[in-house]
Order: sequence, then structure tokens, then C-alpha cells
Amino acid sequence: TGGRPDGARGLRFAPVAPNKDDKVTVPAGHSQSVVIRWGEPILRGAPAFDPDRQTAKAQAGQFGYNNDFLSLLPLDERNRQILVANHEYTDEILMFRGYDPANPTREQVEIAWAAHGLSVVVVEGERTSGRLTPVTRHHLNRRLHTTSEFKVTGPAAGSTLLKTSVDPSGTKVLGTLNNCAGGTTPWGTTLHGEENFNQYFANGSSDTDKRYGVGTAATERKWERFDKRFDLKQEPNEVHRFGWVVELDPYDPDFTPRKRTALGRFKHEAAQPRLTADGRPVVYMGDDERFDYFYKFVSSKRMKKGNSRAAREHNRTLLDEGTLYVAKLTGDSPASQIDGTGKLPVDGEFDGSGQWIPLATGNTSHVEGMTADEVYIFTRLAGDKVGATKMDRPEDVEPSPRTGRVYVALTNNTDRGKAGKAGADEANPRNANKHGQILELAENWDDPAGDGFAWRLFLVAGDPEDPATYFAGFPKNKVSPISCPDNVAFDPHGNLWISTDGNQLGSHDGLFGVATQGERRGELKQFLTVPIGAETCGPLIQDRRVLVAVQHPGEVDGASVEKPASAWPDGPGTIVRPSVVAVWRKDGGDIGV
Ligand code: FEO
Ligand code: CA
Ligand code: CA
Ligand code: CA
Repeated sequence: TGGRPDGARGLRFAPVAPNKDDKVTVPAGHSQSVVIRWGEPILRGAPAFDPDRQTAKAQAGQFGYNNDFLSLLPLDERNRQILVANHEYTDEILMFRGYDPANPTREQVEIAWAAHGLSVVVVEGERTSGRLTPVTRHHLNRRLHTTSEFKVTGPAAGSTLLKTSVDPSGTKVLGTLNNCAGGTTPWGTTLHGEENFNQYFANGSSDTDKRYGVGTAATERKWERFDKRFDLKQEPNEVHRFGWVVELDPYDPDFTPRKRTALGRFKHEAAQPRLTADGRPVVYMGDDERFDYFYKFVSSKRMKKGNSRAAREHNRTLLDEGTLYVAKLTGDSPASQIDGTGKLPVDGEFDGSGQWIPLATGNTSHVEGMTADEVYIFTRLAGDKVGATKMDRPEDVEPSPRTGRVYVALTNNTDRGKAGKAGADEANPRNANKHGQILELAENWDDPAGDGFAWRLFLVAGDPEDPATYFAGFPKNKVSPISCPDNVAFDPHGNLWISTDGNQLGSHDGLFGVATQGERRGELKQFLTVPIGAETCGPLIQDRRVLVAVQHPGEVDGASVEKPASAWPDGPGTIVRPSVVAVWRKDGGDIGV
């Protein structure tokens, strides 16, 4: 390999050491650039970003705040691709000079509405580097935010539980909120998980509101003062219209994005499909909450190949018909050997078998005492009733395009084993779990539509010097420390890349690559770190480029526009801006080869 660093193919780079530097640190021999920042104009007529002259109208044509999930889709234009980004949430104290949290102004609230949601922006590459630059005013560029129209589809569309005073049809929702991670489908659309939607709604009172963590008083952002739909005392069903997987067709600028009720309602982190042998999509999904569940949806319809109008129309219905399942995991070692410390059981692995429990198929409920509409809209309660396994916060999920095995990031759960809470089990083997783990799931007979699977923990995260860690059996003196795995993606060589959120080892968050097959399975290497206060999101690994979304840089207790904790990306005296970053090899070679 001519002096190239050692490692599995695709992971030949010198690992980045843990650090707390206020920048994106990349391996020796690599370059980086910002692709797009919060506030950069992407639509015709949108002004350049001016932090002291923000308006809702400007923001609605600019790249949103807090980029999380990223997708790049091929485009039939020279060196161009379509970038799709989620904008998970706003942090007003870091956005507005002189922000008064007790008294947000209408303009500030409307800017926040416009800064949420999704961006579609065409980007152009260079032949000689991995740099990407936005093509502003491209006809495919789009912003979808809190007042954009979304269509509710699938079996629960039109349910009385989804009707409001402004939408008696129960099928037309304004806005998408808290889009965290997502997925890209083989039929050329993107999926976006509505995660912590509970925080936007005031005055919750029902038991179901409680199960979804909706507060009983005013919200922190106080949107309910400016639009009554955020006040559940006045509009109790509005909250049921959030917490879905959204599907978008980035190739069609006129497409009204869909909220897919067949995939259930919970704090959707992500949604990533895989096809059955006969072409039906199976979508894997996590509910990111301590002690919540892991799900899959199996479509009853086959994907049509090609890009004809008929194929596209057909494929737009794939996620509306099928069966929703929740996972139950059973360990194969005696419970007495799972002591909550992370010590491996006698058989040397945290592993076992699993069962997919059906919750609903179309309009038929499989859960006693719940209608199908209730199963889809209050999916967490259905999981409770059937005894699904309480997991350590299921975050992003990704099936390996090579092996079909599904990787689930379980980010952490410091409440595991606390009084009155579930204790350690073989899949969630540490009490007070600060660092998280990654589970590897293999469907029986490699059939993603089946009802049984085998599972094992692939990584038990933490400092490799901590005995309560595990790197698929790879020697622990040769791996990078990792904490709080969140987003996962595969590279073109079949390696798993993992980004982190909330590192508990005294370093900043970052991005890691690890082989999942062969002799080097488990050899985890750190590829980059992010600035102060930031989380690493949306990793995308192409042949010659790594793309990451640097989310919430500078988000540190006590920080504000006046007292910034970070000067990223534009240096001292400038406002901190969440941004997308591209990284490439200086010599133009493929990443890690
Ligand atoms: Fe938005 Fe579960 O991370
Ligand atoms: Ca075992
Ligand atoms: Ca996340
Ligand atoms: Ca996270």
C-alpha cells in the first residue's frame, strides 16, 4: 500500500486522536471545506445571511438550522448531486442577539418555524477535490418547514384522532418538526424521522400525551402564544399529527411530502429500508427514548424499477400498505451471568434470538384492546402491551448493503437499573449505561420480511481500557475510544461508519469507521472530531468524500450570541453556524484506500 496507513480497505487512514479543539480535525493528508452553513440562501430571491437582520421570509429561502441527517442523490447534470438535509431544532439563544427566553417576539418564533424542517439543495463537485458547493436557485432546491403542507397517508389517515379545527379531513398537516436522522430509499426518495416532537406542544393532559413526554404546562419556545395549534388545551389532536416518518421525493419540486402512518408514531430517529428478495421494502426504525422499542415495517407491495412516471407513482404507495412489527429480544446466556457491569457471559458474547411481534396490518389490529388507528397513532402503547424489549435508546439504524445484517445504534441509558426501572439484560447489558452499544441483527434465512432473527452486540462502547467494552473481539489496544454512537452509515467497501452524540470520555464527538467482516472486524478507527458543543451527524461516505453535518456547535450551558462558546466555522467575532462539511484526500485518492 506504498506507505499508506494500515487498516481494512476503506479504513486506511491515521486515526485522529481524541481532543477538545474548536474545529473539525481530520486525518493527516486530508482537506476539508464547509459545503453550506445555516442561513445561506438556496432559493431564488433569498438574501445573503445577516445575523443582525434575520427575518422569517429570508429564513424560508435559506438553509435551515441544526443540520442532522444528510442524503446525496444522483443527478443527471455534470458533477452535480442533490443534497437533502434535516434541520432538527432551533436554539434561539445561539441564533438571536439579545434573545429573551421569557418573551420571544413573533418574528423570532416565525424565524424558528422557518429554520426547522428540510432543505433540498443541488450541490456541485470539483473534479480535483472532494469539495462541494451549493448551486443556489436550482429549480430542485426547496425548503420545507413548520408552515409547509404535508399529506397524511396510510391506514390511519383521516382518523378522528388526527382531525383538528382547521383540518376536519385529518389528512393535511402544516409542518414537520424535529427531523433527526432518516434514510434514502432504493426508489429515489428520502425518509425523515420526526423525533422529539413533544417539546413543541403545551398543556398536554391525556395518558397518551404523558407516554410521549408531552409537558403539561407552557413550552420553552412558547410557540403556543403565536399559534393555538401548539396549545393542546385548544387543539388536543394536533400533537398526533407529529411523530411520523416523512417521505420526500427530492426529484419532484411539486411533490407534497407524505407522513406515513403505516410506519407508526413514536420518536422516530431514523428509517432505513432494505428490499426482500421479491422487491418489497422493509423499513427498520428506532424510537429514541430510554427503554423504548425497535420496529420494522414490511410492505406488501413490490418496488417497480426504473424512473418512469408509472413506476414513480407506484413507488409512492409502497409505504402505505403492510405490517408494522416491534422487536422482542431474548438472550441465550443465563440471566444470572448478566450482572449489569458489562462483563461478558460465559459463552463470550452478548447474543441471542429475537421475535418480530406484529402490531397491525392495514386496518387490522393485532393488539388486544387497541384499534388499528390506535396502534398506529399510539404505537408506544402497543409496544407496551405486547411486551417488546426495552432498549437503551435506539437511534440510527442501517442494513449492510453487503451482508443484509442490520446495525442499530443504542446511544446510552443512564437510567438502566435505577430503582423502578428495567435492569440490565443481554442486549442492554450495562446498568447506568453512559456509553451505549451497537447491536447487529441477522434476519432468519436472511429474509427481512420474516418474523425471527438472531442478534449479537457488535460494539460495547467506551474507553477500550475499560473492561466493560467490547469491539467484536478485536484486540482492544488497537482501537479508538468511542462513546454514545448515534448515526450509522456504510461506505462503498462495506465498513460501518459511526458518528457520536454526547461523548462521555472527555473528548469531543466524532466520526469513526469499523470493519464488520473479515480479520479486522471490530477494528474501530476515529476519522474526525467536531468543534466545541457539537454533535456529529449525517455521515455520508462516498468513494472520494466524507460528508458530515456539524450540529449544534457552541451549544454549551450559559453560551449565547454575545458569549459564544465556539467560533466555528468562521472564526472569532462571527456567529456560530451549524454547517455541513466535506472531507477528502489531498492526493485525490479514494477515502481509506
Ligand atoms: Fe435527535 Fe436521537 O437524536
Ligand atoms: Ca450469550
Ligand atoms: Ca440522532
Ligand atoms: Ca442524538
